[in-house]
Amino acid sequence: MATFHIFRFDPTKDKTIRFDRFEVPDKKGLTVLDGLYYILENLDGSLAFRSSCRAGVCGSCAMHINGQYRLSCTTSVKPLGKNVTIRPLAHLPVLKDLVVDLTNFFRHYEKIKPYLITNDQPPKKEFIQQPAQRKKIESLIDCILCGACYGSCPVAAGEPNYLGPHALLKAARFIFDSRDTNDRERINLINHNLGVFRCHTIFNCQQVCPKKIDPSEAIARMKMKTVWSKLRGFFGS
Ligand code: FES
Repeated sequence: MATFHIFRFDPTKDKTIRFDRFEVPDKKGLTVLDGLYYILENLDGSLAFRSSCRAGVCGSCAMHINGQYRLSCTTSVKPLGKNVTIRPLAHLPVLKDLVVDLTNFFRHYEKIKPYLITNDQPPKKEFIQQPAQRKKIESLIDCILCGACYGSCPVAAGEPNYLGPHALLKAARFIFDSRDTNDRERINLINHNLGVFRCHTIFNCQQVCPKKIDPSEAIARMKMKTVWSKLRGFFGS
């Protein structure tokens, strides 16, 4: 048996948070998400959590599991030991138990305009991209917006209006995309006091990303690009 200790809170009726304890049969290959479904179906039908694909693709099941943000569907229980402690993503209001309100998270994402912006006439059929150009955004496009980086970021904890590592990583995905050619607009979207320079390069996001993407490095590259673009404007070249 594995013992699950799960954060519980219903803001419509609870005054304080609590942790409920459940015993889950530790079958071979059991994931944390399997355990949550076992509890939901057999022990407590009121438990709230998010999931969809159950395959590490949709990003909806990120939560804080035994001290680290992870995807519950790709996290095996066995290496965690007999006790599994689960909390929701941090820095966002809890709607119920492990479900948080992602409105602010996606508001920041919208702010970076997550689509191609080009100065040129869009091609009639398709935007051709060479393999070498595609390689430049290879890892960046893998982000599934699970929120693990956001939950682990102490800057996001202190400033809810900070764009956050997820939105900045997505900005990098477009800034370094050869088909996205409006650099000036892109830079303006991230070059402000709640944007790219608000990142303190703490590297938590790099450590927790379940897709092994490095938002810190992408943000550092955007800081350099922003500075160069401003210098070029200053010296008029
Ligand atoms: S359920 Fe889709 S990533 Fe876990």
